[in-house]
This record gives sequence, structure tokens and C-alpha cells, in this order.
Amino acid sequence: MSLEPLIPNRLDDENSALVILDQTLLPNQVRYVSLRTNEEICSAIRTLQVRGAPAIGIAAAYGAYLGAKAAPESGFEAFYAHFRTDCDRLAASRPTAVNLFWALRRMDRKALSMKDCPVPAIKAALREEALAIHREDEERNKAISEYGLSLLKPGQGLLTHCNAGPIATSSYGTALGPILLGQERGFGFRVFADETRPLLQGARLTAFELHRAGVDVTLICDNMASMVMKNGWVQACLVGCDRVAANGDTANKIGTSGVAILAHHYGIPFYVLGPTSTIDPDTPTGEDIPIEQRDPEEIRSLWYEKPMAPACKLFNPAFDVTDHRLISGIITEKGIARPPYTQSLQKLFE
Ligand code: MRU
Repeated sequence: MSLEPLIPNRLDDENSALVILDQTLLPNQVRYVSLRTNEEICSAIRTLQVRGAPAIGIAAAYGAYLGAKAAPESGFEAFYAHFRTDCDRLAASRPTAVNLFWALRRMDRKALSMKDCPVPAIKAALREEALAIHREDEERNKAISEYGLSLLKPGQGLLTHCNAGPIATSSYGTALGPILLGQERGFGFRVFADETRPLLQGARLTAFELHRAGVDVTLICDNMASMVMKNGWVQACLVGCDRVAANGDTANKIGTSGVAILAHHYGIPFYVLGPTSTIDPDTPTGEDIPIEQRDPEEIRSLWYEKPMAPACKLFNPAFDVTDHRLISGIITEKGIARPPYTQSLQKLFE
């Protein structure tokens, strides 16, 4: 029996809406929400109703199109001013995942390239561009999954952090792509999913997606990763990415760099998987990646009936940067980049 796919983003053009799967309700509730205004889309991105670098990019592209659709048609200047205001608000919703800015830049380029055309034609082209961004992500995920699977052997133990599955992208996912493809092909992987404090993307989303697909998945608390590695249960780590700098330093969910350090200690390959839209040639190193700071109360109070810490100081960065020297390979839809990354990543764009 094949399961109904969960669709993180869908354009409902008839109703001028973006329909998202509300990921904050998972795993207990599968609910889709229609977002009609720029404010609603920005808020859904900020509050992680829609999350994961590629999915945020797709949501922003649809948001830009829906804004454009409502823009005045009196002339390009008035249209573009309206469009830009919406895009700027979308760009301010989250700072780290570069896919958001990549998708908005693509939409902006499309609008500017048509500035001498009638506004209705620009609107139609922006619709096509947003749909293309979505469709291309699906194709990229499939290629990433194939490249990733080529590095793995049947029966291996794998560890992942956060959630880089179909709901964070458009299909298959990035880090979960080889696992789900392997599941279809009878690879019989045993997967350890870090719960991923404080927002529990590993527990709520990764364990949910893998369990639903019939994968042998074991949920562990983040501080158990060292033990399962030491026990010899992990032959490779697979993680997603929010921004890969030109030198290969990679921002991903907070805790990822710790997993990489552990993997290095135990001699386990550590792979980063993501589309080339997550590689940012304009960011030279990890030092230059803006790191989102989230409401510290997520640590103290979220998920608990009562606060689970005193009124002490809290620190809640949403991402950390894994040093490129700890990364065995960066798996993209265009192939697998290996160290030295400054050269191999650049080659992907040639
Ligand atoms: O804060 P989130 O849940 O959006 O963070 C997501 C991650 O860190 C993912 O690993 C990354 O975006 C890749 S998703 C394919």
C-alpha cells in the first residue's frame, strides 16, 4: 500500500493561495493551511509551519508570485514597487537558509527581464517561474538521492540530524533521499534520527517520515549520538544544509557540527546533501553566514506544561556551522563535491 505523499507547498491559483502542510502540528495532525496574504506567508516561514531550506525557497517563490498577482497593472513602475515590497518582507522572514534569497532573486530577475512587457504577461511569467523552481527542486532531489545512495551499502547503519526529508523540500528530500530511495530498492538501512533539540525536527518530522515509509528508524536524544557511533552502529552520517559557503563550511540545524566532530572522532564518513541552490558562492566562509537566533523560551517552555528551567539566561541559535574539514563529501544534483571544496564547488557551477 503506497502512502499519500505529504505536500509541503502547493499553489492554489484559483483561490490565490499557497497551501502548506502545517509542520508545527506533526506528527499528531496532518493539516493543510491556505495562506493568502504576504503577512501570512512570512509568518508561516518564521514560525516553521513551512520549513527546511528548499521548501522555504519554494514558499517564497509562490509568495512573490501571489504578491505580484495582486499588484497594480497601471505600469511597470507601480507593479514593481508592489512586488519588491512583498519580496523584501519575505526575505526578512528567516536569515540563514540561502534558498530563500536564491528563489527571490530568481523571481526578481524574471520580473526585471520583462520590464518592457505588459504587466499581465509579467504576472504569467512569474507564475511559471515559481512553478519551475518547485518542479526543478523535485528533479534535484531525485538526482541527489541517486548520488547519495551510490555511496551506501545495503544493511548499513546511518545517522541523521534535524529533518531534510520530503516535507523540507518537494520530494524524497536531500539527506533522507538516499534512505527513502534505498527503502524502495530493498537496502534495509537502520537509521538513527537525532531528536534535534529544541524544536524536535528529528523526532517530530524525521522519525515520522521514515517510520511512515517503513524504514527501520530509531529515535535517539541528541546526546546519545556518541554512544551509537562508539557501538559501531553507524557507518555514515547524512545531513541537509541551509547554506554552504564557497569553502565548503556548512550551516545546518544547531547540533550538526557536534555530529560531524563525533563522526570524525570515530572515523565515520559525514556527508552533507543539498541542491546547488543551497551553495552560496557569495559567502566566502562559514564566518560570513548569518545565524538565526530564535526565541529562547523555545528551550525553557516549548513542549512542556510548565517551564523546565529557572528564569536563568538562555541561548538559542537555530543553526551552527560545520567546518569543511569535517565533511567527507557534499552531495548535490550535479554530483559529489570532494575536498578541496573551494575548487570542487566552483566546478559544479561551470
Ligand atoms: O529550522 P529548520 O527546521 O528550517 O532547519 C532545517 C534544517 O536545518 C535542514 O537540515 C535544512 O534546511 C535542509 S532541508 C532539506
